[in-house]
Amino acid sequence: MNSVDTQKYDQVLVCVLAATPSCQQDAEQLAQQLNLPLADEITNNPRATDYWELKVADNGLSLMRPDGLTTQIDFINGKAVRRAQEKNLASQPLARALGLQKLRKVNPTPSIIDATAGYGTDGWMMASLNCDVRLIEVSPILSVMLERAIQTAREHDTGVDLLPATSQQVSEHTAQTSSTAHKLSVVNADAVSYLNDAATQPSDIVYLDPMYPASRNSALVKKGMQLLHELVGEDKNGSSLLDAALHKAEYRVIVKRPKGAEQLAGTQNWSGQITQVQSAQTRFDVYHMGTGQP
Ligand SMILES: C[S@@+](CC[C@H](N)C(=O)[O-])C[C@H]1O[C@@H](n2cnc3c(N)ncnc32)[C@H](O)[C@@H]1O
Repeated sequence: MNSVDTQKYDQVLVCVLAATPSCQQDAEQLAQQLNLPLADEITNNPRATDYWELKVADNGLSLMRPDGLTTQIDFINGKAVRRAQEKNLASQPLARALGLQKLRKVNPTPSIIDATAGYGTDGWMMASLNCDVRLIEVSPILSVMLERAIQTAREHDTGVDLLPATSQQVSEHTAQTSSTAHKLSVVNADAVSYLNDAATQPSDIVYLDPMYPASRNSALVKKGMQLLHELVGEDKNGSSLLDAALHKAEYRVIVKRPKGAEQLAGTQNWSGQITQVQSAQTRFDVYHMGTGQP
């Protein structure tokens, strides 16, 4: 994983905690990797109550706010997986925005750079649609949570809690989980620099989901998004991201926006076609590359 300065990008104080003694060594290595203190190193610190905890447990990493609100990335039984298991996945708004039907005629396994990975929920869905997805995430903490969740899903070879109706269903689910996880990779980087880097391999599609403005009705913002807002802050670079994405994508750039929001700025020099796919609370702005291909 490329390394990005934790304190520069994660906006809250975070310490690392081992859930059990058997996780202590792992917690120590993680603290060193992320340049974060261990929980026992800060117990005498008067600001200790301000600390969020990145907890290392046998079943993965979780991130807890000082008031106990917790989030984790789970590609075995979590929300991303349930969403990707919904019927008619290929006709859902995100899938339609990707335009896979046409694209598959020239590339059966399309490549996608998800430049704002977050919890990887959209990334998992795109991988479930048989795309190779590079997840770019600027937050070192989220990046490591994504990497661990993907690794766990790749190694997943036992029974699952979800839909364990028959052993055949269990093994199908298991194989699907592992093969989807193998389509995902994580890069901890600022996507503007990553996309602008001439050495970065282009992709068929670049997908952007910048943070929504904080002014959205907070009652509607789910707990995971609340935590994300506090951890990484508001969108600061949406227009530079779009500019960089338009230079790197071969086929289309997709920008997820709240319904009714303006298009991302940054397209002043863009003369190509822009279409939209609407869903209940979201709109996908689709920027088509002018090559006429596929
Ligand atoms: C709204 S969230 C994305 C949620 C994601 N689509 C999902 O399904 O979980 C936006 C994410 O983009 C990340 N981000 C913002 N600017 C970035 C940049 N320049 N490079 C990489 N990641 C960035 C933020 O840290 C945050 O995690």
